[in-house]
Amino acid sequence: MEKKTETKKTIFSGIQPSGNLNIGNYIGAISQWVSMQEKYNCIFSVVDYHAITVKQNPEELKQHILEITKIYLAAGIDPEKSVIFQQSAISAHTELAWILNCYGARIADLNKMTQFKDKAGKNQESVSVGLYDYPVLMAADILLYDTELVPVGEDQKQHVELARDIAKRFNNDYGNIFTIPQAVIRKEGARIMSLLEPSKKMSKSDSNQNNCIALLDTPEAARKKIMRAVTDSGTDIEYDLENKPALSNLLTIYAQLGNREIPRLVKDYRGKGYGEFKKDLADVVVKFLTEFQTKYNKISDKEVQKILANNQKIVEAIANKKLTEVKRAIGIS
Ligand code: TYM
Repeated sequence: MEKKTETKKTIFSGIQPSGNLNIGNYIGAISQWVSMQEKYNCIFSVVDYHAITVKQNPEELKQHILEITKIYLAAGIDPEKSVIFQQSAISAHTELAWILNCYGARIADLNKMTQFKDKAGKNQESVSVGLYDYPVLMAADILLYDTELVPVGEDQKQHVELARDIAKRFNNDYGNIFTIPQAVIRKEGARIMSLLEPSKKMSKSDSNQNNCIALLDTPEAARKKIMRAVTDSGTDIEYDLENKPALSNLLTIYAQLGNREIPRLVKDYRGKGYGEFKKDLADVVVKFLTEFQTKYNKISDKEVQKILANNQKIVEAIANKKLTEVKRAIGIS
């Protein structure tokens, strides 16, 4: 990372290595990060302690940690400009999460978290305590680095708001320790929907992977998924979230991956059918994935391990400084 300057704001974000990253993660989060690198001090984490809130296969988890780091790099995160690190390598994250569990987070806050309700479903009593407490660890991730901006997809907005509330409460009691963060959410593409059930978010933990285009899907598999994606009734290509949610989602994907404007696309496809539109969208997705995977395949495990090991020291110094400040403030250091 370039030397932190007073004029540059810090941004922090992360992704769980809990499944196959998809174009939703790319459009909603990673593509924002890439465009913010010049202007900000950027810290991007592979948040493996978040992934274990649901049981993971150890071998797969290990693989996913390397895979996500390669995805960050292939997408255009430049290790000379931004810091990429593994969350679990920095013990300050879990230490601060514990302190915030005690001083800042409240049961009433966590009970409001919609993602917990969605993920736990009917099993709220039997899922792990970690799944319930996950937003507090996320708050610790953000607050350790004096983060001002948190670029995420729409589903994480509530968690960033909780981090703000926790920081304000803590500051109120112990002085001006934490910077108050703010979520940065795209106007378009903040919530990419599933291909077969467009009322549902495209999710890497979806048991039906035909709902998602994974960044590492073969281009031909992705083509088939697009051609099989559901469409709405009618024949016109229109952007109308209420009445044409499936088409609106496909138009958003087209615009984001093909670098086009939605109104222009709608104009270009006037009078043309869904079949032609989907065929062209499939070409856009295939081109995007082919170029992305060419870069991905050139990155070795060794290169990734080296980046993670080097960055550990940089990040640890920043995180430990803030943790010490917090410990002093509460009287345990
Ligand atoms: P995670 O791993 O579920 O998702 C990673 C990022 O991808 C975004 N995203 C989407 N954006 C658009 N459309 C979609 N369908 C879609 N699905 C996912 C998410 O909003 C997210 O930005 N708790 C976080 C990870 C985390 C974090 C943090 C983020 C841990 N600590 C600190 C920011 C700051 C999570 O589970 O994201």
